[in-house]
Amino acid sequence: MQTLYEELNPPPRILMGPGPVDADPRVLKAMSMPLLGQFDPEFTRYMNETMDLYRRVFQTKNRWTFLIDGTARAGIEAVMTSIIIPGDKVLVPIFGRFGQLLTEITNRCGADIATIETEWGTVFTPDRIEDAIKKHRPKLVALVQGDTSTTMAQPLEEIGAICRRHDALLFVDATASITGMDLQTDNWQIDSVTAGLQKCLSGPPGSAPITFNERVEELVLKRKHVERGIRDDADRDAQGPIIKSNYFDLPMLMDYWSERRLNHHTEATSMLYAARECARIVLMEGFEARFARHALTSRALTAGLSAMGLELFGDQAHKMPNVTGVHIPDGIPGDAVRAALLENFGIEIGTSFGPLQGKIWRIGTMGFACAKRNVLTCLSALEATLRQFGYEAQWGKAVDCALSVYDGQ
Ligand SMILES: Cc1ncc(COP(=O)(O)O)c(C=O)c1O
Repeated sequence: MQTLYEELNPPPRILMGPGPVDADPRVLKAMSMPLLGQFDPEFTRYMNETMDLYRRVFQTKNRWTFLIDGTARAGIEAVMTSIIIPGDKVLVPIFGRFGQLLTEITNRCGADIATIETEWGTVFTPDRIEDAIKKHRPKLVALVQGDTSTTMAQPLEEIGAICRRHDALLFVDATASITGMDLQTDNWQIDSVTAGLQKCLSGPPGSAPITFNERVEELVLKRKHVERGIRDDADRDAQGPIIKSNYFDLPMLMDYWSERRLNHHTEATSMLYAARECARIVLMEGFEARFARHALTSRALTAGLSAMGLELFGDQAHKMPNVTGVHIPDGIPGDAVRAALLENFGIEIGTSFGPLQGKIWRIGTMGFACAKRNVLTCLSALEATLRQFGYEAQWGKAVDCALSVYDGQ
């Protein structure tokens, strides 16, 4: 007889890597609600509510704010595939692995890509980005806000205005930073932003909230070709070249997420429930309290790590508040430490990629997992584990230092 395996019963974990992190139990509960048909008026009401909630999360008035089904990169692909016509110039300032991902995706869309790079652990000055825009005259600048691979956050306040001055669109991947730090889509003149649920939004991976403004709308509508089988007599093919992906075709998704409700894919019901609940939880807490919680947690965690004698990674002035990079000390086997943390304490932390692979650990304190109890548990577990590997430090100091940050908050 074929084995049916055991009923799923995942071991309890504290997910403190760079994502996914622990989902808020309220989100998991929302996901267990009964399914509805995709054109059930109750369900289309939830779709509209989700659009409204994410307008607030993205701090935008953009009508076009909805979900792409898929992980965060599905949101990126939808925007890129719909905007970029082969040969379009795109500028990607790269300060980590996820900048590289933007070149990977835009390359597949046929973009003529220009890049600028800065050492991992640093970010760009606005001037450097403006100089590159002047030199390359891109149609689109694609930038990551928080690059989890390096734990750095690129300041964005001035970039939108720079792009407008030079008639370029600005796209921002805020997957890792959204609701852990400020992101003002409209005030900062960002034309399109995409995200994912599995970081500060405290949901599971599998839904990508996106937003884009009229400038993007105008471009993508020039490429509107409604699928055969669902189009009606009024649908005329636009002059622009067809968008190469059906799944990620923004004009067709706009018809699905608006009053027309023209069938496209079958909306991922349970993921929509999850995304809706994630946004509700964020807005109930409020941005100010949420950003302060992430900043305080970052201060407590970094104080504890420093007290253990560990060296923090990267330019601390631009550190993301929700992920902390720390150098693996010489002679300490980084992966064995991570394995021991998981085995003995049920705590997951991450390493990094490319030039940082095996050189740093990354500790995530995001959304639901951004909590004092997690910081203190992680510090004491890391300390005990390092001791087992023969690392010398003044034991007990880490938790004391973290606690004094909380006491003095
Ligand atoms: C900044 C950033 N962008 C994009 C992604 C890709 O997300 P996904 O794996 O959900 O497709 C990640 C995932 O870690 C990320 O941190």
